[in-house]
Amino acid sequence: MIHTVLTTDWGLRYPIIGAPMAGVAEAPLAASITGAGGLGMIGIGSTASTDFLERQVDQMQNARPYGLGLMVWALKKHPELLDAALAAKPTLISLSFGDPAPYIARCHRSSIRVAVQVHDRQEARQAREAGADILVAQGSEAGGHTGSVATLPLLQIVLQEAFDLPVLAAGGIATPMGVAGVLAMGAAGAWIGTAFTVCGEARTQAAGRHRLIEVTETDTILTHVFDRIQDLDWPYEFPGRAIRNNFTAKWHGQETIMTNTPEASEEFAAHRGDYSVDYLYAGQAVGLVDRLRSAADLVQWLGQGAEDYLHQRIDMLVGHRASQ
Ligand SMILES: Cc1cc2nc3c(=O)[nH]c(=O)nc-3n(C[C@H](O)[C@H](O)[C@H](O)COP(=O)(O)O)c2cc1C
Repeated sequence: MIHTVLTTDWGLRYPIIGAPMAGVAEAPLAASITGAGGLGMIGIGSTASTDFLERQVDQMQNARPYGLGLMVWALKKHPELLDAALAAKPTLISLSFGDPAPYIARCHRSSIRVAVQVHDRQEARQAREAGADILVAQGSEAGGHTGSVATLPLLQIVLQEAFDLPVLAAGGIATPMGVAGVLAMGAAGAWIGTAFTVCGEARTQAAGRHRLIEVTETDTILTHVFDRIQDLDWPYEFPGRAIRNNFTAKWHGQETIMTNTPEASEEFAAHRGDYSVDYLYAGQAVGLVDRLRSAADLVQWLGQGAEDYLHQRIDMLVGHRASQ
């Protein structure tokens, strides 16, 4: 058994968090991850309704613990999403992509813990001072929207900065050795998105699943094109990592021209679900995703495998002592 705050205090079997992923991680995926001994999270998109959130929570039935992932920048326009999230009383709320300070005390008053995804030292400091319970060091190799510092340096920076808080690692983790690696560095767990996107319980369409299995680690791009074409107010410092396609080939780096070209919007609207044009958010760990499996199977493989891997690596120290 791996002992971190997630297993000792939160009661998880494995220190694995299923990342909130709007449009992909909904109740079936979250419940399955929780049922397998991790903690599943539901991603609440920037344009989601409170009805959607409530329906998702209803579907969780008795699956506990679980979390809801909110985007801070969207709460300014849709404060009702935070009200609905608080009323649902999840175990955890994540407040990412913006300053979480105005919202943390309300979560605590409802006895809900708060995780914040951070992307550099300053954001880590800001989230810690604002009272976050958990910091998630989200590296730039992560799928979906993210910052510009890679997981390896970022995790070290956040561990230095948040010495008194549990820190989770996000971005690029999709195997037992990846989970074991971040635990060995001092993370309390792994916050994993891309690897779960192909699971049967994820909302990913069949064509998307097959594409994700087919592509490699060099096939992703950090881009603003999909936000700009949908007229979403994502803060500029958080581009989204998606699978490259014909649309990114044509418009990445040409976003202003794109938004002034009506044919670009028409083309995008006409090809929803066609991944040669539409977006498929995924991180560089997509190069490690090579099969369709259930979320429960994946949690068990990652969690048990990390435990076994750490046991094997202890030999490195034992061998060293024996040879002295
Ligand atoms: C398809 C997809 C959608 C995502 N949507 C969200 C989201 O709605 N809210 C959020 O906080 N993070 C979102 N993320 C980022 C994840 O929370 C997480 O940081 C990331 O998946 C971790 O890196 P990995 O993809 O390499 O595992 C998304 C990631 C992916 C792949």
